[in-house]
Amino acid sequence: MSWTSERISAEEQSVREALMGCGRIPRHVGIIMDGNGRWAEERGRPRVDGHREGMESVRDVVKVSSQLGVKYLTLYAFSIENWKRPAMEVRFLMSLLETYLRREVDELHANNVRILTIGKTNALPRSVQRTLNEGIERTSGNTGLTLTLALSYGGRWDILRSVQLLALDVRRGKVSPEDLTEEVLSSYLQTSYMPDPDLVIRTSGEMRLSNFLLWESAYAEIYVTERLWPQFRRNDLYRALADYARRERRFGATSAQLDEAQAAQAQYLTTLEHILHAS
Ligand code: FPP
Repeated sequence: MSWTSERISAEEQSVREALMGCGRIPRHVGIIMDGNGRWAEERGRPRVDGHREGMESVRDVVKVSSQLGVKYLTLYAFSIENWKRPAMEVRFLMSLLETYLRREVDELHANNVRILTIGKTNALPRSVQRTLNEGIERTSGNTGLTLTLALSYGGRWDILRSVQLLALDVRRGKVSPEDLTEEVLSSYLQTSYMPDPDLVIRTSGEMRLSNFLLWESAYAEIYVTERLWPQFRRNDLYRALADYARRERRFGATSAQLDEAQAAQAQYLTTLEHILHAS
């Protein structure tokens, strides 16, 4: 039950040590989980099988993110556009979500994971809302990984919603338009409790954000892999994190200003590249 006592191979242990030794584990990772349908179709199976297998990827990625010390993991589980899918598929996704929560909440709680959601969750079926609320309440005091499920979510929807709330506060005289800053607008978004994502991972090779954390991803590193979501397991996460660790994040600074810190991490990066290429 406790993820800290999980036995892993010596090789995996060395990958983790190198990743953590780099000191560049992203604080916030967002994932656009794509390719469930294709995974199933390639195997001549119904699309829902891809979602079911995708849930296993969710379990592995949540666990490993928590073990590595990622503080925020945001999963794009159901976009606001996904309501347009066939009713049967939507029903299946909703019941899968409920299954996941019911089955996993004890373990998530035991491992100090806090569950939260973003999105127009009042559009979800009542029973899903109830199960979600139970999970959120139960884990609300946890201080480890914050697992945010983006459900019936759209980045534009959240931006529009915050602008509406902001406009109301302007009308009430609580905010003056002159005082508006990026921070003020951010504080109206549903994501206000989380830092911006450092890394956004997208599976199945598409080079799009698809309305995921639009405002928040302004400076995020984007990592796209050809792997379909049901195939994406811990080794793929290690690769994404290794790739992230390798990249320079400058925020307008010059390379020279970053040199010192990077030199200190070079040894870990060399180890990491060696291990990842070998696996
Ligand atoms: C995209 O694949 C995936 C989704 C719309 C749903 C994501 C859901 C899961 C991974 C299952 C369970 C999630 C949780 C949080 C328990 P797609 O169907 O768009 O694939 P395609 O592009 O190949 O058709």
